[in-house]
Amino acid sequence: MSDESRPSPAQTAVAAVIPAAGRGVRLGPGAPKALRALNGTPMLIHAVRALAASRHVSLVIVVAPADGAAEVKSLLDAHALPERTDFLVVPGGDTRQESVKLGLDALPPEYGVVLVHDAARPLVPVDTVDAVVEAVRAGAPAVVPALPLADTVKEVEPAAEAGEPEPVVATPERARLRAVQTPQGFDRTTLIRAHETVTDNVTDDASMVEQLGLTVVAVPGHEEAFKVTRPLDLVLAEAVLARRRLNDGF
Ligand code: C5P
Repeated sequence: MSDESRPSPAQTAVAAVIPAAGRGVRLGPGAPKALRALNGTPMLIHAVRALAASRHVSLVIVVAPADGAAEVKSLLDAHALPERTDFLVVPGGDTRQESVKLGLDALPPEYGVVLVHDAARPLVPVDTVDAVVEAVRAGAPAVVPALPLADTVKEVEPAAEAGEPEPVVATPERARLRAVQTPQGFDRTTLIRAHETVTDNVTDDASMVEQLGLTVVAVPGHEEAFKVTRPLDLVLAEAVLARRRLNDGF
């Protein structure tokens, strides 16, 4: 399908790419991060359910560890997932960026809006997913969910050795800073062009779109969309799930 004949983001179907190929070394030794359990269910399954919970999302592409695609396929088969959603599993790459690109390579032509969501953010609420989709459908080429910061942030001259004192070089005005989460949402053509053009190492997809000179907009994120990175985050995630179960029970 050429770009001209592609439906506009306002009308088109929405797919989600979930990079889940990271080792998660900061979480300690063990299985790849996305396959670790939260309350007995792999983090990846929570993340897939969170995206598939949006009525907008009709395809979820999971980017599995390079040697783990078969295992991830059987995990998806073994867990209850919405029937109206299609699922694809592809093997990932050495970096998050490569993994996302491999997911985009598997995207069928009819999807004009793409969400990219970290498997490591398993508890993102559906309202956040929907807010991102709606902003892309309203015409933004790239959308990020974002939260104000509690901490003041300093820019430092990084020390050669971890733990050594580091000179502070600047203090950006906190009120103008945001912590950015996922899912990040994109007009398909824009995201594919960004991944074909930008080769710098980046930590999120939206910054690649910024490098193309296009405007990225932020919509309100959610504290439950935090990234599970360190061991304490697992405790927090299980506490959030326990609170949800209690709330659902009443
Ligand atoms: O390492 P980080 O926490 O930034 O990873 C964010 C997301 O990117 C995780 O869901 C992780 O599984 C994924 N990732 C990937 N391929 C890699 C590295 C990270 O899919 N090579």
